[in-house]
Amino acid sequence: MPDRKTNMYFGVAYYPEHWPEERWPVDARLMQEAGINGVRMGEFAWSKIEPREGEYHFAWLDQAIALMSNHEIQTMMCTCSRTPPPWVFHKYPEIRNTRLDGHKANYGYRYTVCLNNPTFIELSQRIDQAVIEHFAGNPHISAWHIDNEIGSGNTCYCEVCHQKFTAYLGEKYGSVENLNACWGMHFWSLAFSAFEEVPLPTGVPFPSPSLALDYARFQSKVNAQFARWRYKLMKQLHPSAWVTTNFQTTNATHTDLFELGQATDVYGTNFYPLYGPEFALDYCRGERGELIILEQESGQPHWSAAVKPGWLRLWTYRSIAHGACGINYFQWHTCRWGQEEYWHAVLPHSGRPQRRYREIKQTGEELKQIGSLVEATRPEALAAIVMSYESRWALQAVSSSDVLPPVFSQDAMNVHEEAKAYHTALMDLNITTDALDPRMDLSRYRLVIAPRLYCVDTPVAENLLKFVESGGVLCLTPRSGVVDEYNVIYNQPAPGLLSQAAGVEVDDYGALEAPLPLKAILADLEGVAEGASWADEIIPTTARVLAAYDQGWLKGMPAITIHEYGRGKVVYVGTLLRGSSLQALIAWLCQEAGVKPVLQTPPGVRAYERRSTTYRLVFLLNFSEKEQVVRLEEPWEDVFAGKQVGQVEIGPAGVSIIRLNQ
Ligand code: GAL
Repeated sequence: MPDRKTNMYFGVAYYPEHWPEERWPVDARLMQEAGINGVRMGEFAWSKIEPREGEYHFAWLDQAIALMSNHEIQTMMCTCSRTPPPWVFHKYPEIRNTRLDGHKANYGYRYTVCLNNPTFIELSQRIDQAVIEHFAGNPHISAWHIDNEIGSGNTCYCEVCHQKFTAYLGEKYGSVENLNACWGMHFWSLAFSAFEEVPLPTGVPFPSPSLALDYARFQSKVNAQFARWRYKLMKQLHPSAWVTTNFQTTNATHTDLFELGQATDVYGTNFYPLYGPEFALDYCRGERGELIILEQESGQPHWSAAVKPGWLRLWTYRSIAHGACGINYFQWHTCRWGQEEYWHAVLPHSGRPQRRYREIKQTGEELKQIGSLVEATRPEALAAIVMSYESRWALQAVSSSDVLPPVFSQDAMNVHEEAKAYHTALMDLNITTDALDPRMDLSRYRLVIAPRLYCVDTPVAENLLKFVESGGVLCLTPRSGVVDEYNVIYNQPAPGLLSQAAGVEVDDYGALEAPLPLKAILADLEGVAEGASWADEIIPTTARVLAAYDQGWLKGMPAITIHEYGRGKVVYVGTLLRGSSLQALIAWLCQEAGVKPVLQTPPGVRAYERRSTTYRLVFLLNFSEKEQVVRLEEPWEDVFAGKQVGQVEIGPAGVSIIRLNQ
């Protein structure tokens, strides 16, 4: 049985409940022939496991697991309780989720439950416990997967959630006077006289920003609690198996991934490159150094262009290059029915192996050859991006379309967009980058970029200042350090608690109707030619100006500054940089911090690195439509060819992996 630690997990999401039993052996054989060594099963199987209350059917899954094992395929078993069958809703309608508009969700879809509802808690714990107890210890199950996309669709606004939220606030604030003071509730005569009066953030165009932030935190905690209960039981009953769950990439804001991740052994995520940001791969790898892709693209949905030959393999290697210790494709066989009948899978509707199967088979064969070489390595980053869910929730609370005037582009107020833009620029320069929560240990990095870190409380500020004091370069972007943990704006200029370290004060700012040219004062920043969407009016207190606005009434005012603090430096960027301007800034920041690119590559080819203690492994991935040549300064070993090379030719969508001993 392959073990995740020594054989790279290479699997598929498989739904035996969709197919007649006679088909299962064909699937198992085809999987084995393609090098598949894992299947993830069971996350939507409640109606098959317990078709009527109290009537459990496990034999079919036992049989599927055994069959897979006969083909050297391990099982990752999922719990399934967030998608109850119709009998549950019919009998216990109170478990239904209440949507933001106050409507009760109808069943007939998935994730239509309220995780706080006591009946749901009881029923869901009962089915998940039955599943865990039944399968724990099965030697063919090497991993557990908690449900599917925890948090998705579950944010609820029902009476039970309201009561639990009230209790949460009571515990957090102690007295309602304290809550009023922390949230500033005398505005518009909204101060409460009892916790029970605190409403849910619904039914009004613009709830209190503090209330909105705490409700997001509360719902995130509910999701994490759901995962934690299952994690504990899995570890207790099946200690030899590792536990994971699939985050919905960083696109989702319902749950703080770092909080949820504490209920897993390996951070896992879904990854559909057509809409999942590459940033999410580094964020889900986080500070643990590895992640697992639990749903890697295996085909395209019907609304999108066909995935061209080579791209499934290319995307797979990109995930691995980012630190994936396993790949699980979604899914094995395209459904012939249901809401996802056009989400194409490894096998088409007919079940006959075609080009997607052949490509995955090629990848599976290659991974058998190089899996252990890859497994011994990890990405090792000196650069990091910090992003917090607190900042995202806090800004979301004041930037809904009801609130924002049209001149504000979404980009100007969106933490995730800013993080993705900086991350893309780092990737374009082949800089290995970690992405993580700003509360994590930053001591291993030389460069930390904090894109729009809007919410900075004392622990986050202390962590960042410690990093700078010990010699790091910190880069801040507009609207950083603006609010405290209550989503209340500091009574000092931005970037608030970081202002002294940045040597700047920003009291005024505004959206830009058109991009503005910038003038570099530091020659190295000449490429930083344009700022867009936003302009902070930076007053340098002790910082030096590196670039200034060069047009209109802002002409001559600082746009980018630098300040020495402790043994390190803080760079403050007061406008939005994109494209070549952002690349020029990143290139300079890396130079300033002593962070080097993995290798130089022609445009369209990216180099990603994983390292062991004795060798470097570089993944050269050609995202362009033409053949490309990467010239190497010293001979590297081409891992697939097994020979020394001085340059590498890579076809369109091609992959080359090279190794150098160190
Ligand atoms: C994922 C989800 C799967 C399936 C897939 C379709 O987000 O976890 O169950 O719906 O999307 O691409």
